Amino acid sequence: MKEAVRLSDYAEHIQEALSKGILLNTNGDKFNAMVIAWGNLGLTWGMPTFVAYVRESRYSKAQIDKTGEFTLSIPLGEPDAVITKVCGSQSGQDIDKVKEAGLTLEPSEVNRTPGVREYPLTLECKVLYAQEQALSGLPDVLREKFYPQGDAHTTYIAQILKAYIIR
Ligand SMILES: Cc1cc2nc3c(=O)[nH]c(=O)nc-3n(C[C@H](O)[C@H](O)[C@H](O)COP(=O)(O)O)c2cc1C
Repeated sequence: MKEAVRLSDYAEHIQEALSKGILLNTNGDKFNAMVIAWGNLGLTWGMPTFVAYVRESRYSKAQIDKTGEFTLSIPLGEPDAVITKVCGSQSGQDIDKVKEAGLTLEPSEVNRTPGVREYPLTLECKVLYAQEQALSGLPDVLREKFYPQGDAHTTYIAQILKAYIIR
């Protein structure tokens, strides 16, 4: 069962959970989940949106670009150490994260990308805008710290279509 929630009731929780790592799920060639800690919940073009930052080298980037959507799975308590390790350091290019991290998939309401029961707070997101960041626009100190190999982030602004807790 899915219990709809108001985003404003969970904004602070999402901000806190992000700092420890939440899951960005995609479903291009197959289901995949990656840990993200950078992101923004907000309003863009008058709509509730989530902004995600995904590096060029991530398997997840190719998947988002194929489908134009992602589903966020957010723990209600502390993040699971195995999920963080598997989904935050290994690539879906090489492994099946559902199996390796022991994820239980839950079909989404609108998206083709499922949520994850272990992280029940779920946001179904549809990409409205994607842009690779121009590293030349960054202060030197950030470019040198975060992009020594030039592996830029793409900024994805996505409309939040659904927000609910999987019970
Ligand atoms: C706590 C944590 C936060 C992370 N945040 C991001 C992020 O915001 N953006 C990003 O591109 N990668 C981030 N990563 C790295 C990816 O999760 C990692 O490279 C992952 O293996 C990519 O999976 P994929 O190749 O299957 O997409 C983070 C990793 C950890 C452990």
